[in-house]
Amino acid sequence: MVPLFFNPFVSLLFMASLRLISLVLAVVLFQGCAPLEPDLPVDEEGEPIDLPPPGEDWLFFESVEPKEEISTRPTIEINFNSYLDPETFNSYGTLRMRSGGLTNAGRVDYWMTRRQLRFRPNADLEPRLSYQLQLLADDLRSITGSPLHTLAILPRLHTSEDLEPTDPLRRPEVSWEEVEAIFEIHCNDCHSDPNWMLPELTRESLIHKRSEQVDARLVEPFSAPRSYLMHKILPDYPLRRKEVQPPSWSDAPPLSMTDVERIEHWIANGAPP
Ligand code: HEC
Repeated sequence: MVPLFFNPFVSLLFMASLRLISLVLAVVLFQGCAPLEPDLPVDEEGEPIDLPPPGEDWLFFESVEPKEEISTRPTIEINFNSYLDPETFNSYGTLRMRSGGLTNAGRVDYWMTRRQLRFRPNADLEPRLSYQLQLLADDLRSITGSPLHTLAILPRLHTSEDLEPTDPLRRPEVSWEEVEAIFEIHCNDCHSDPNWMLPELTRESLIHKRSEQVDARLVEPFSAPRSYLMHKILPDYPLRRKEVQPPSWSDAPPLSMTDVERIEHWIANGAPP
């Protein structure tokens, strides 16, 4: 009699069941390793906030300035295609520069209106070396939860003594008076009118005050990305409730990007008087 294993029919059956088991195992294992879906953003009532359609779903570096040649104490601007989630990076330990065994840590500042990280090394770089710019924030994400594209690689840059070192990471100073003047032209027709029953746009009624629309502060000093006021005035900001401000249906003149950025600088500098 032919041993059971060599019976062509039985061995075929045996092979088929092996295949099925490994397939099931692979599916189970794969699911076990798949990245966890980030929690969907919700508003104050726990209602989900709409996310952008798939296809716009990767975060990537749009450009890096300067290109190729940098000074020995540069400020490097990295422009993204989306707004960044402030929970996924910080001012220290987000970027560094590396040349052979040399590493230079530095600080970043997020210029939200430009969707830009500005990096400046803490110490001078060595002249005439080639440095690789490295992102250390593994979990860097867009505000809608899009992960950084797997093929996004930062460029290598060469230091040159001929180039002038750039200024430290410092923002232009903006006083409350300047911000108030912007609100006066574009906002206060409605926000100062008691009939509208809207939050007043004074320094006191903005700083640390909760939004009525989402679970966020209107102005969080030193953090523009955590200030709901910014979410309401950036025309293409993907997460907000209701209308961009001033509302597009109103006669109020829209804000220029220069005005939006002034408001950002004011908040980022701590919302000074
Ligand atoms: C035509 C009237 C009008 C103008 C002008 C206007 N707003 Fe508003 N604003 C509203 C209305 C109505 C709402 C509530 C509905 C909405 O958010 O779309 C609102 C809501 C807001 C909120 C949300 C408040 C909260 O508690 O979350 C902020 C912040 C805001 N406006 C800021 C501004 C700023 C800054 C400007 C000027 C750049 C401005 N608004 C101009 C009518 C106006």
